[in-house]
Amino acid sequence: MMDFKKKQKEQRTKSQDKSQKGKKTCNQKMRKPLKVVELFAGVGGFRIGLEGYPKKKDAAFEVIWSNQFEPKTKKQHANLVYKNRWPDANHSETNIEKLVANHLDSIPEHDVLVGGFPCQDFSIANRSHNNGIEGKKGKLWWAINSILEAKRPAYILLENVNRLLCSPSKQKGRDFSLILYCLNKLGYAVEWRVINAADYGFPQRRRRVFIFGVHQSTKLYKILKNTAPKEWLVRDGLSAKAFPVSSSGSLKNGLLLESKQVIMNHFLHQEVAFKKAGLMVEGHYYSIYVKPIYAKKD
Ligand SMILES: C[S@@+](CC[C@H](N)C(=O)[O-])C[C@H]1O[C@@H](n2cnc3c(N)ncnc32)[C@H](O)[C@@H]1O
Repeated sequence: MMDFKKKQKEQRTKSQDKSQKGKKTCNQKMRKPLKVVELFAGVGGFRIGLEGYPKKKDAAFEVIWSNQFEPKTKKQHANLVYKNRWPDANHSETNIEKLVANHLDSIPEHDVLVGGFPCQDFSIANRSHNNGIEGKKGKLWWAINSILEAKRPAYILLENVNRLLCSPSKQKGRDFSLILYCLNKLGYAVEWRVINAADYGFPQRRRRVFIFGVHQSTKLYKILKNTAPKEWLVRDGLSAKAFPVSSSGSLKNGLLLESKQVIMNHFLHQEVAFKKAGLMVEGHYYSIYVKPIYAKKD
């Protein structure tokens, strides 16, 4: 563990040195793009958002590895689309659980891990099979966790249905607590926000939770830690800047429970602990109800 942290610190110092050197000769636009790994890639929604399609010349992100696999079907339609769109992609078509168990090393080092992990076990449309993080799909969270453990990228951006915040129905908030617990253990601060595309002028009523993790080794983490949680959530954070909100509510806050086992067995919160917007730093969570601000363009 110590060796890993030392190695990671050395790597970060080296890349910081490089970027300092770069500053003398290059302008901002010539910065190297952040290296992205796209999990549960489907037809590449994250990739299109991050790189543009066709890829922008000055894109700030570059997907260097992706993975997609649909269990129980022979024909892998999403992979056919992905490979058609990006014929030169470094794209893996293996079940991520198998890949993590046997070939974790084949995933390259990266700066950002993104993915919309399967939602069926958290989804309201699937109430009878609502097994949350213990379900067949829900347990794919652990594949993400193993990759983060091994690679510790600086940033994480995950997406799921908003019901993830209050799953499973009999222990509301348990699954998200567990996810926050894992990310905290790995040294991430986490911001989350439920965004309804329709609130920002898109022709689709779709509520999704976006989970943004920032590793403690980054400059952004220090900024986040030194900002009041409410200001981060309504003004300074990633989601607040991209999707503005206001809030007149008060922050709900608390401490994460102390172990996985305690969370799984004794999570008996009767009310939903996690509201539409929230932040977790060093085991403390803060969450608040927010209202979207959107100025309609004519
Ligand atoms: C919610 S969708 C993600 C959609 C994607 N963001 C897009 O833009 O198309 C989840 C994806 O995970 C894939 N998936 C499910 N189980 C998987 C597994 N064991 N290994 C890898 N991918 C899996 C599904 O086939 C599906 O495409």
